[in-house]
Amino acid sequence: MCGIFGCIIREGQAVKLITDGLKRLEYRGYDSVGVAVINNNQMDIRKDKGRIEEVVSELSILEMEGKIGLGHTRWATHGAPAYENAHPHTDEIESIAVIHNGVIENYSELKDELIDKGHIFRSRTDTEVIPHLIEEEMKSDIGLQGAMLRILRRLRGSYALVVLSTHEPDKLYCARNESPLVLGISGNGTYCASDVPALLPYTNQVNYLRNGEMAILDIDGFSIIKISDGSEIVRPNTEITWSPEMAEKQGYIHFMLKEIHEQPTSLRDGLRLQERYLDLLTQFLDRGKEVFLVAAGTSYHSCLAGAYLFSKLARLTTFPVVSSEFMEIYGSTVGIDSIILTVSQSGETYDTLKAIDHARMRAATVLGVTNTVGSTLTRVARAYLIQQSGPEIGVAATKTFTSQVLVLAQMALRLAKNRGKLSQDELDEFEIKLHLVPDWVEETISKSEDTVKKLAKNHLDESLFLFLGRGISSATALEGRLKLLEITYIPSLAYPAGESKHGPISIIEEGVTCIFVCPRGETHNHILGSIMEMKSRGANIVSVCEEGDEEVKRISDEVIEMPRGIPEELTPIVYITPLQLLAYHLAVLKGLDPDKPRNLAKSVTVP
Ligand code: AGP
Repeated sequence: MCGIFGCIIREGQAVKLITDGLKRLEYRGYDSVGVAVINNNQMDIRKDKGRIEEVVSELSILEMEGKIGLGHTRWATHGAPAYENAHPHTDEIESIAVIHNGVIENYSELKDELIDKGHIFRSRTDTEVIPHLIEEEMKSDIGLQGAMLRILRRLRGSYALVVLSTHEPDKLYCARNESPLVLGISGNGTYCASDVPALLPYTNQVNYLRNGEMAILDIDGFSIIKISDGSEIVRPNTEITWSPEMAEKQGYIHFMLKEIHEQPTSLRDGLRLQERYLDLLTQFLDRGKEVFLVAAGTSYHSCLAGAYLFSKLARLTTFPVVSSEFMEIYGSTVGIDSIILTVSQSGETYDTLKAIDHARMRAATVLGVTNTVGSTLTRVARAYLIQQSGPEIGVAATKTFTSQVLVLAQMALRLAKNRGKLSQDELDEFEIKLHLVPDWVEETISKSEDTVKKLAKNHLDESLFLFLGRGISSATALEGRLKLLEITYIPSLAYPAGESKHGPISIIEEGVTCIFVCPRGETHNHILGSIMEMKSRGANIVSVCEEGDEEVKRISDEVIEMPRGIPEELTPIVYITPLQLLAYHLAVLKGLDPDKPRNLAKSVTVP
């Protein structure tokens, strides 16, 4: 997730607006910054890694002159934060500058094709193929608009991109597929940005570019063109009434709520993993004598779900362990044949890095799944995958949990394929279901939020909750409990349901609320038994179950219904979303700030 801003103005210098706009978008990414302007048909590009303030001052960006330009703040997905990977990227003679947010899935085949034609690449990004593709198309005399349409029809994946070129020095070309891009217009000019907050100081008249659309901006306004057939689209502008603070959260009151609602998008991005790294990681997993899944907090819960996925799909035994316990429990046995698959949103969690240090000292192979390119984890791991969630500001992990489980599911599926553990039909079926996950999450969030709000009101004065699930749903139950605990401070327990009769059942008395995660699947019959155990002792039963699951509904007091047909192995990604919402709404009703829970930090970098 990156920040994009572009403008063409009558009065003032474009860089002033660009740098202000980028500051307002810094929450979208902040590892490198770059600006390009055109003045007297000369392109001036300045960029580097670092925060906006540093880069702007070190490169004297505010001295750049010109009435047209674009700027980018980066959240790395391909290639570490570095000068050469910072945007804009250009063709060889710097006549075309491109900024991009998203992931170009077919960049390596496009890059190979361009290299064969003699193009020289300077970065490790997927974005750099775009200016080279445009340069190549411009050779056939079809003009910039023709070249843009041709190349856009070849790009697969997600993008919001803006192009500035000396071929048409008074225009900006923009395009969108699945990554947001908003156009704006005022008396002083025309603008584009990845989010509304960057536009608000200049205009409240905006037009949201839609998937498959390209826009051509000039000083007087913009035209919108359908990429597939080149036809023009006319759509009225929208008037924005948000305050700048609301706009930063896209109209949501809190980042946590925004991030919960962002999950369909972050999951779609999470399905676009880099194939070669997916292969590399699964090859390592296959070779190890023993595989440990090491993580803390929410990331540990992803590992728990991962252990079920690796076992059920790929028949691989793994050992999930919390980072802070790794050395105590496996420190003296881990060795050259061990694989440590580390999962960490930040890639900087102290306990996780300590566990890795120890494992590396004993010659084990360290792999990573993280959200943060350039983090310590990406530097020390033998190989890693980026989960593509984009920055998460709320302290409580939400979209990063679902992305992590999705990444682990894809790894398990790839390993199952390589090991021949599933039939082709089973592989195909699971692959189809994986791609339905973002839609299921979207449906769940939109259908369940009102039910969850009512539930939160009904349970506002509760002093204890018990979360139970079986099989992979025990990971969902643990994560649901962690969300509730960290932002509402309500004491709660979570257990695999089968364990409840070995202790936790003693706390059950009339009216204690038990939240059951009970998808259909292998664990369904057992969970019915567990519900009855609690119900017969007076517990109040809230079940998260499949729509139309009459058996569960009959014995529950309240239910949250989930879409039908989700394979049990994928349910943590979907079933966790109403539990995230429940924690969120309870916190808000209690007057607490869910984005900044007491005593907690986003990244725990101390012992
Ligand atoms: C979860 O909501 C918390 N923010 C916390 O448990 C977090 O998951 C944990 O600190 C691990 O962080 P990491 O993924 O950045 O390593």
